[in-house]
Amino acid sequence: MSMREVATPSFEGQKPGTSGLRKKVTVFQQPGYLESFVQAVFDCAPELQGGTLVLGGDGRFFNRNAIQTILRMAAANGIDRVLVGQGGILSTPAASAVIRRHRARGGLVLSASHNPGGPDGDFGIKYNIANGGPAPEAVTEAIYRRTQTIRQYRIVDADPVDLDQIGSRKIGTMTVTVIDPVDDYAMLLGGLFDFDAIRALLARKDFRFRFDAMHAVTGPYARRLLVEMLGAPASSVVNAVPLEDFGGGHPDPNPVYAPELYKAAVLDGELDFAAASDGDGDRNMILGKGIAVTPSDSLAVLAANATLAPGYARGISGVARSMPTSRAPDAVARALKIECFETPTGWKFFGNLLDAGRITLCGEESYGTSSDHVREKDGLWAVLFWLNLLAARPGETVLSILQAHWKRYGRHYYSRHDYEAVDAGQATEALNQLRAALPALPGQKIGGLVITAADDFAYRDPVDGSESKGQGLRVICGEQARLIARLSGTGTEGATVRLYFELYEADPAKQADDVQTRLQPLIDFAEAQTGLRKITGRAAPDVIT
Ligand code: G1P
Ligand code: ZN
Repeated sequence: MSMREVATPSFEGQKPGTSGLRKKVTVFQQPGYLESFVQAVFDCAPELQGGTLVLGGDGRFFNRNAIQTILRMAAANGIDRVLVGQGGILSTPAASAVIRRHRARGGLVLSASHNPGGPDGDFGIKYNIANGGPAPEAVTEAIYRRTQTIRQYRIVDADPVDLDQIGSRKIGTMTVTVIDPVDDYAMLLGGLFDFDAIRALLARKDFRFRFDAMHAVTGPYARRLLVEMLGAPASSVVNAVPLEDFGGGHPDPNPVYAPELYKAAVLDGELDFAAASDGDGDRNMILGKGIAVTPSDSLAVLAANATLAPGYARGISGVARSMPTSRAPDAVARALKIECFETPTGWKFFGNLLDAGRITLCGEESYGTSSDHVREKDGLWAVLFWLNLLAARPGETVLSILQAHWKRYGRHYYSRHDYEAVDAGQATEALNQLRAALPALPGQKIGGLVITAADDFAYRDPVDGSESKGQGLRVICGEQARLIARLSGTGTEGATVRLYFELYEADPAKQADDVQTRLQPLIDFAEAQTGLRKITGRAAPDVIT
């Protein structure tokens, strides 16, 4: 077994974004590109030496190649053991579960989440730490600095490992164990929810159910949990075979990218409960007959009903939401008299709060929800939680549960508008225009609502005191409304501008489902302040969720 040090240029722009390093596959295919980044991770994570690393991804194109390279590099970097999902597969929440269960010192999760895959699509890599969650900013910053000075990487020569064969083998002194990618995760979820009650619900003839795996990683997980363990008909899990290019689709579970499911449940009312998950299995979309559940509302409803699930029967310690997520969960936290935290966008900011026991549930408006069972968001977890909820509230529907929730806590109308692949200079110009206007905004009005604050969101981590600045521009009208603007940190083409709109309506008599109309004054105000459409020449957002 010979170890080699291979010279490599240091590549520009290997800066982990909201969720790891994401680039076009063609960028990752440049000789030394993946290797340089992985070596930078190993250099910045000395804890991995002599310990266990978890490795797997969402099965997209380049996943298997990357795994073979990383295995040979791990052996050259003194890692004792690597746990790899069979076929190179590990959903993001499953990777988190495996890291925690096997007390690994860290993990490399290979995914570009919901971004399209295939030779012309995206690839990504993310380092997770021993708690199972994404490395905090201090670590990702250190990795980035290291990529700028790196000159060589370490690798051993070895034959490719058969990733399809469960069991252990050696690369030099390092053990590679190919594990079932579903086992640990399924066992963990099995302990959180009332499987008997869910099984009875799914067996009912009048309960029409469908889960769409979008040809991405959740297929095998959904089959195990929903079909094998909970008895749902095999036909209720659709697009269940993971494909390297996700069947050419955009594996993002929202009304725009899962239009068939949306039509069947929301527009045609053919399903009582429908759900979908994304490329790497951490996102979820929840639909009922005639209604799409806003992710922010989903977090609020789960928090309000948490004790109905056995794993949370003793109550929840607190909740957290990312800043752009609507304040629906805050209302529940007030009623439950628990803490509610507002963090910057990205799951890595929840880790400390979860580790410290300050929160049990957390979520983001971007179709992400989870709890302290892992340190990632978890798509199927949310699906099972909703099924548990429906099973525990017989006679109710997704819609009636939401309506009862809004009646009690008020409704937070919410929408996000994305302008994708915008020229980076134009995107910055639009945001700079709003940023410059911020100091003068308080006291002005949007529709009839008075602006009470306007700032660039900064976060001080309550656990370790670390500061994160520049996390999004906020215009706030007290508890009534908010408008937020920020640049995406996950795109791979130009810049994506995200505008978020939120409006609170306490009166149940005025809570009709006319979301975009209700938000129009905020939408107009955003355009007036940023000039985004004028600057970019775009007539409308590319994606509205
Ligand atoms: C997006 C979402 C964010 C999520 C991230 C990873 O990041 O907005 O909530 O954590 O994907 O799934 P963004 O592209 O906005 O930086
Ligand atoms: Zn994802």
